[in-house]
Amino acid sequence: MKQQTPKELQELFHLYLNGLAYARAPKGLYEPIEYVLDIGGKRIRPVLMLLAYNLFKEDVQSVLPQAAALETYHNFTLLHDDLMDKADMRRSKPTVHKRWNENTAILSGDAMIILAYQFLMKGCPEEYVRSVMDVFSQTALEVCEGQQWDMEFENRQDVTVDEYMEMIRLKTSVLLAGALKMGAILGGASVSDAQKLYDFGIQIGLAFQLQDDYLDVYGDPEVFGKNIGGDILCNKKTFMLITAFERADEATEAELRNWMTMEKYDPAQKIEAVTAIYNKEKIGDICQAKIEGYYRQGMQLLEEVNVEPAYKQHLLGFVQGWMHRNL
Ligand code: IPE
Ligand code: IPE
Ligand code: MG
Ligand code: MG
Ligand code: MG
Repeated sequence: MKQQTPKELQELFHLYLNGLAYARAPKGLYEPIEYVLDIGGKRIRPVLMLLAYNLFKEDVQSVLPQAAALETYHNFTLLHDDLMDKADMRRSKPTVHKRWNENTAILSGDAMIILAYQFLMKGCPEEYVRSVMDVFSQTALEVCEGQQWDMEFENRQDVTVDEYMEMIRLKTSVLLAGALKMGAILGGASVSDAQKLYDFGIQIGLAFQLQDDYLDVYGDPEVFGKNIGGDILCNKKTFMLITAFERADEATEAELRNWMTMEKYDPAQKIEAVTAIYNKEKIGDICQAKIEGYYRQGMQLLEEVNVEPAYKQHLLGFVQGWMHRNL
């Protein structure tokens, strides 16, 4: 069976995406959709889905609409997430609510969920419609749950690492896991293999979000494409912040708490001060060690998927490539 590389699948996906036209009126609704889908991104969810499908079947072309459903849904979450996180930059471009306005980010985002469902149904083999729909809807709802926890945690000071891990499982992991499971289902995989791929996705998703949070502090904005320090300004209860609180001595804890509750401050100064505490407590290293652990657990789960080991090489290589990602 022919295995396509992640790069080949990404190119195939781009060709498909570029061939789509949203040339409908009103422009104010569709232009932001084209804008966000055209400005790139890593396309990891569609590629994961196609790689999972390709473990079982060759004709990846036939499931490109379902891959587009995942990417469209993902980009919807970004429109609303940037509004909720007050983020001005994404993929090195102004976010939709900055380039247009907040109502545009809301409504174009809403339209993208509906478009995602249209893609999902497009050419989906009758025998898989029900299960693919179920996975997708369940996943999409869980992402909303994760996003709500994320927002609620901003105003809480007692969030635990376990609560944080559950929050990122919901807001980030389930979509990666769901993408893999959908690919497996469409590829005709056994229930057990589809579930193993899902579990693999959960672990690598946790690592992926931990790294995103790490890059929000330590990334290079030119490469990362987002403003650095946004999580600190929103008082996001990331693993790094929770761990800093756990490790800090009394004086440092008071300083950190002071920054969390301060009403008026210079944003650059707050980012600098909190980052200095992270540096002092070696939070970056602790975070990286945790990331490694989740990747390792994920890789073990992938080994258990019952297909020829050689088939898994591209999936393995793709995910290993994220390990030291800086975007
Ligand atoms: C951003 O996802 C949201 C997170 C789950 C961290 P990506 O990092 O996959 O964003 P793009 O699509 O590549 O820009
Ligand atoms: C991503 O969380 C989760 C979703 C978008 C669902 P973040 O808020 O950390 O994502 P970025 O950093 O804005 O991409
Ligand atoms: Mg955000
Ligand atoms: Mg967010
Ligand atoms: Mg982030």
